[in-house]
Amino acid sequence: MSESLVVIGSQWGDEGKGKITDYFACRADMVVRYQGGNNAGHTVVFDGHKYSLQSIPSGIFNPKTVNVMANGMVVNPVSVIEELERLHKQGITDYQLFISSRAAMVMPWHSAFDGAYEALKGGKLIGTTKKGIGPAYSDKYSRTGLRIGDLLEPEYFAERLQAALAEKNPQLEMLGLPTYDFQAVYDQYMEIAKVIGPMITDTSLLIDSYLRQEDKKVLFEGAQGMMLCIDHGTYPYVTSSTPSASSVPVGAGISPKWVKNVLGVAKAYCTRVGEGPFPTELFDERAHEIRERGHEYGTVTGRPRRVGWFDAVVARYTSRLAGIDWWALMLFDVLSGLDKIMICTGYECDGEILQAPPSTIATLARCKPVLIEMDGWKEDITGCRSFDELPEAAKAYVRKIEEITETPVGMISVGPDRKQTITIAEELKKF
Ligand code: GDP
Ligand code: IMO
Ligand code: MG
Repeated sequence: MSESLVVIGSQWGDEGKGKITDYFACRADMVVRYQGGNNAGHTVVFDGHKYSLQSIPSGIFNPKTVNVMANGMVVNPVSVIEELERLHKQGITDYQLFISSRAAMVMPWHSAFDGAYEALKGGKLIGTTKKGIGPAYSDKYSRTGLRIGDLLEPEYFAERLQAALAEKNPQLEMLGLPTYDFQAVYDQYMEIAKVIGPMITDTSLLIDSYLRQEDKKVLFEGAQGMMLCIDHGTYPYVTSSTPSASSVPVGAGISPKWVKNVLGVAKAYCTRVGEGPFPTELFDERAHEIRERGHEYGTVTGRPRRVGWFDAVVARYTSRLAGIDWWALMLFDVLSGLDKIMICTGYECDGEILQAPPSTIATLARCKPVLIEMDGWKEDITGCRSFDELPEAAKAYVRKIEEITETPVGMISVGPDRKQTITIAEELKKF
């Protein structure tokens, strides 16, 4: 039987999914992205080089790994080509990449609408990445979108494009935005088809064939984080997909029976980029210190990330919803040097202590974090390669997180490099 592992973000994104996926991709036969698009920014660091990926899976650096952009993604082919060009410039030329013919296609007007809708919110911004993700998913669900596979059927593509422009051009005009000429878009996308055409396939069949093979290792790489989930996140300050392990079967086009072994990637503190409630947010010097030490600036947009303490209310919630088997506790080195480190164990709201996030952000806005204080440590831990090498206070912090989230820590990351990783869980050592 094949082995599979799902890597998901369990907070507000940017937890270090790229690093963890790359770490396992060195041994994986296949890496699959199954939701989101180029709103993601996944960083991978090894051999002194840093790479940033948006929509391409983080297995791209291992020539033996088959990388799949599956049907649940919204794929911007222009951005895929740009990303590949960037990788080529960095010397990454030997790779395997396939794109689902069923994936929704992000078209140029989607980012135009994304920006315009934000501008119309009169200051109450979501703070999107303006990559057109929301408008592309909207078109998918209203059944007016184009799909990647349409590029291989020029006549059908022309039909769908004509229909899309008949709907979008009047809307663009109303918003005072430039409209699109059918022939120009058609010609541009037929050129794009020449480049990405050979990568387009029925990825559902491809993934299934790997899962059915003995000794194959398949990794599912989530994007964004559970608190940005369209259903379970801090709506409306969320993205337009479901970053959970629950998305894997639909988004990869496989049976749910293959989904097992879920690794929840969590920072040892919390960050959030964009607007929306963030109960443990810090506004003082400590936020500044953590932001600078962790280089907490968005990979996609360069925006400074908001910083707060580890939120166990969120962690328990996401562990329950996604069936997280282990945490990969990330950026642990960034906490070195703090005198005291806080962990949020509950929310105080209207005289009650809540153990799970409330379902509306109006209530969440009234929540105050209940914090416990842990001792910090002074030692630099970036060179630690086993749990035993960590300072006692750091070990106590890990144990406390396991206790209050009722989920074991399977891995600890002590630096951005592939090598700066401590694997604790035996099952993960074997993957
Ligand atoms: P992703 O979107 O979940 O893949 O995460 P990002 O790549 O957007 O953000 C994580 C950032 O933290 C990147 O700059 C990584 O290189 C960096 N990083 C990952 N793990 C560690 C770690 O353990 N320590 C430090 N200092 N940086 C890390
Ligand atoms: P990775 O995969 C952090 C946030 C945006 C915004 C909200 C909606 O790198 O963890 P969107 O463009 O998706 O409509 O924006 O979601 N967001 C992310 N924040 N990491 C990400 O991806 C994100 N992708 C979207 O900042 O608040
Ligand atoms: Mg990121």
